[in-house]
Amino acid sequence: MEMELREKFEAAGQGGVFKYFDSLCDAERDALLAQLGQVDLKELGGLVDSLVLGNGKSEAFDFSGLEPAPYKILPPDKSSDPEWSEAKRVGEEAIRSGRLAAFVVAGGQGTRLGFDAPKGLFKVTPVKGKSLFQVFAEKILSASRKYGVSIPWLVMTSHINDARTRAFFEENNFFGLKKEDVIFFKQGLMPAVTPRGEIILEEKGKIAMTPDGHGGCLRAMFRSGALEELKRRGIDCISYFQVDNPLVNIIDPYFLGFHILGKSEMSSKMIPKAYPLEKVGHFCMKDGKLCVVEYSDLPKSYQEQREADGRLRFVAGSVAIHILDRGFVERLGGGASGEGLPFHRADKKIPFVGEDGNVVKPDKPNGIKFEMFVFDALPMAKDPVVIEGARGDEFSPVKNAEGVDSPATCKADQKKQFARWLASVGKSVPLDADGIPSIDLEISPLFASCGEDFVSAWNSLETKPDIADGMYI
Ligand code: UTP
Repeated sequence: MEMELREKFEAAGQGGVFKYFDSLCDAERDALLAQLGQVDLKELGGLVDSLVLGNGKSEAFDFSGLEPAPYKILPPDKSSDPEWSEAKRVGEEAIRSGRLAAFVVAGGQGTRLGFDAPKGLFKVTPVKGKSLFQVFAEKILSASRKYGVSIPWLVMTSHINDARTRAFFEENNFFGLKKEDVIFFKQGLMPAVTPRGEIILEEKGKIAMTPDGHGGCLRAMFRSGALEELKRRGIDCISYFQVDNPLVNIIDPYFLGFHILGKSEMSSKMIPKAYPLEKVGHFCMKDGKLCVVEYSDLPKSYQEQREADGRLRFVAGSVAIHILDRGFVERLGGGASGEGLPFHRADKKIPFVGEDGNVVKPDKPNGIKFEMFVFDALPMAKDPVVIEGARGDEFSPVKNAEGVDSPATCKADQKKQFARWLASVGKSVPLDADGIPSIDLEISPLFASCGEDFVSAWNSLETKPDIADGMYI
């Protein structure tokens, strides 16, 4: 096996991975060979040519004919709007009949937050300090109880955090969910390379492998057998969300209903951008296909364009909330149709073995990793649907340690949501000058996980709690 791999890697210009091979012990050699055996040199060679050395560099994105994507506008009151009510009816029927699974992508490195554990373990709620995973689990559990059905939860991890993530669920007794309803699987890996396209050795006997991006979930679902398991359970709709957003409405009958009524293969939620240059992807139409154009790719003049009435033209921000059709994932993730997601390059700090043979931890990006993005599947989806969501009820991610999208902003947004729910039943919460509740309060997803459910749950309480600092229901 060694000779065969050596030849292959040398022929591909990647012989450097054997630089220290002779100095390794047997176990280290075996481990390195096993790692090398997993590398798809053909795929890697193509990526190095196009994304690193620029040989096959595609032309710059052509913006001609780029239009804003249409979407279902959120009415002031969903429950009394005939179209949205019908969607809810259809969505609820599908949930009750067991057609829906939840799916969190949690394989990322979370470097910006700088938390020394998988991000799902991060404590995020204002009073109880529940972890992100606990919040999601309770939302799923509450929906399972409401609709009288098990809702399986797929959890995608990566080699960086798989063991710790699984252990956390075990330690917490799966937060009340049935163990067999939580399905873990690991995403794929891609070798990281130098700016010259050579695979980086992060130790003498180990190549640097990084997770292949959230878009890697399509093939990981297929390869791991998770998709087959969903099929066995009669599930055809997959509610996709990211690990950093505790506000996400995971089991949303309105969204599911629109997805089903539209016969959509991949549906998305948009929220209107808060300001023209907000750093989100933009839902657009290009050559008749729905796509997401990243803020970094969309010229400023487009991001700032306005309609005659002053509204932002490219207003639909992507918040990484989707419903995927199982057959669609099978088609793309299985690769049988020849369709697949493109890779993008990301420049990162990657530890490497220096000239003296010691490991160097660089302080600026020195290597390139390859990632797929899930929204790149949209142009390949038939009849994709986009619906509007309310930011305050859907989106407040924990990305950075401080500033925007941080634990502090997320906590404030959770408290604001809870205060709005209380206001809807006539209870007012004291606010500070920025409109953020000045007391800590928390409402468990097991009590209510959306405003509509909160009203009925509150009305059925015999004794209503006082609004006070530390309130938890
Ligand atoms: P981010 O874009 O926030 O990336 O991921 P990240 O790696 O978690 O964090 P930074 O950029 O290093 O700070 C968005 C979502 O996609 C998942 C993350 O876990 C998060 O839920 N993701 C990202 C994966 O599952 N796999 C990946 O390879 C990358």
